[in-house]
Amino acid sequence: MPNESITITDNRTNHVYALPIENGTVRAMDLRQIKTDPEDFGLMTYDPAFMNTASCRSSVTFIDGERGILEYRGYPIEVLAEHCTFLEVAHLLLFGELPNETQLKDWTYEITHHTMVHETTKRFMEGFRHDAHPMALLVSTVAALATVYPEARDVHNPRIRLLQIKRLIGKMPSIAAMSYRHSLGFPYVYPDNDLSYTANFMNMLWRMVEPKYAANPVLERALDILFILHADHEQNCSASTMRSVGSSHADPYLATAAAAAALSGPLHGGANEEVLRMLDEIGSKDRVPGYIKEVKEGHGKLMGFGHRVYKNYDPRAKIIKWTAEKVFEVTGRNPKIEIALELERIALQDEYFIKRKLYPNVDFYSGIIYEAMGFKPEMFTVLFAIPRTAGWLAQWQEMIVDPEQKIGRPRQIYIGSRMREFVPIEKREAVSAKKA
Ligand SMILES: CC(C)(COP(=O)(O)OP(=O)(O)OC[C@H]1O[C@@H](n2cnc3c(N)ncnc32)[C@H](O)[C@@H]1OP(=O)(O)O)[C@@H](O)C(=O)NCCC(=O)NCCS
Repeated sequence: MPNESITITDNRTNHVYALPIENGTVRAMDLRQIKTDPEDFGLMTYDPAFMNTASCRSSVTFIDGERGILEYRGYPIEVLAEHCTFLEVAHLLLFGELPNETQLKDWTYEITHHTMVHETTKRFMEGFRHDAHPMALLVSTVAALATVYPEARDVHNPRIRLLQIKRLIGKMPSIAAMSYRHSLGFPYVYPDNDLSYTANFMNMLWRMVEPKYAANPVLERALDILFILHADHEQNCSASTMRSVGSSHADPYLATAAAAAALSGPLHGGANEEVLRMLDEIGSKDRVPGYIKEVKEGHGKLMGFGHRVYKNYDPRAKIIKWTAEKVFEVTGRNPKIEIALELERIALQDEYFIKRKLYPNVDFYSGIIYEAMGFKPEMFTVLFAIPRTAGWLAQWQEMIVDPEQKIGRPRQIYIGSRMREFVPIEKREAVSAKKA
């Protein structure tokens, strides 16, 4: 056995096994040879929430959580946020390279010409209740796109895959804007192909009676930076949902809807909405120490703090904090920033947060910017889902062409009853809801 290996002694049998180590991992399937007798199924790993299990090889996004580093295809997030547009970054994530001028022109043209949604989709959205949560509306409508583009099921055809990728990136802002206007009871606004990806989104959100929408360039750039920061984050809950659903060869609209559903939870993309509610609840700077004390006593969490991977300052939060100041120059200062800064200041010197390596994450400051721009908290996760679609699709595409991937199917440790005696219905006792 070469040096890159691990030797395991099974103390049940005294057998010794040498397992290869590759890229700092052992293959879980190599453990299956470790058996007590030929009838034994073999050793498995138990890893609830995938705390220490790599499920794929990926070249899309790199994170060093200890050092607070995030790179897309090898480029640091700070560099991309400073120099690129979101569509350049989407191209990078999907095709592995930043586009040259001609490629960017073609890519932008293609995406722009897929922003329109079918009229049946518009009518479908009109059927939702006026107070439906925009995220539920987005998830349902993205799933419904599968009814409009049935050819999308041919997931092994690269040409068809690429067409759905362009459609999804193009239509996501349109559906998001429609879900926003639906909640206000305003008529939907059609896309304007003269505008940039982000300015067009702003047009579909906010245009009223003016013949041509003019986006404020500072807000347009701030939104574009936020889109870049949210575009991908390797194997998080929604990306692994995208891969898991996609691994059954379900079509990309359904897989994207599933990923968006995963994003909606308060422990994932829904956290930005919760941060604003928390800041509202705290109300003023002087109540911050009391709130932190309650969190430390186990009453709730400090939303927008902590991360499964980052055990250092989330690099995206730093850029968002800087972007917030630029936005406030246009919109006026959102007073909640003072509460947020005070929360960060106190938490970062508190033993509880230091010991657990809890730092602000991407969601801590993003909601404050969105609110300053005029969005209600219900829209925040929708704003996250628009750019993350590029990341989900990059992960999906990588998974589909990876010869090592199969349908995702974890194992379990069964802890329930076995071979119970059947009881006819008239003899069964009522089961209390609590027990069930
Ligand atoms: C993101 C998150 C789900 C990661 O969870 P995780 O990796 O499973 O970490 P754990 O829940 O095991 O947390 C480890 C410890 O830190 C504590 N902790 C984690 N996040 C915390 C927070 N935001 N506020 C207070 N305590 C927190 C946990 O209670 C736990 O403490 P313990 O060791 O005394 O039990 C978690 O930090 C969280 O819920 N944060 C708030 C929601 C949020 O902002 N999500 C957006 C992520 S981008």
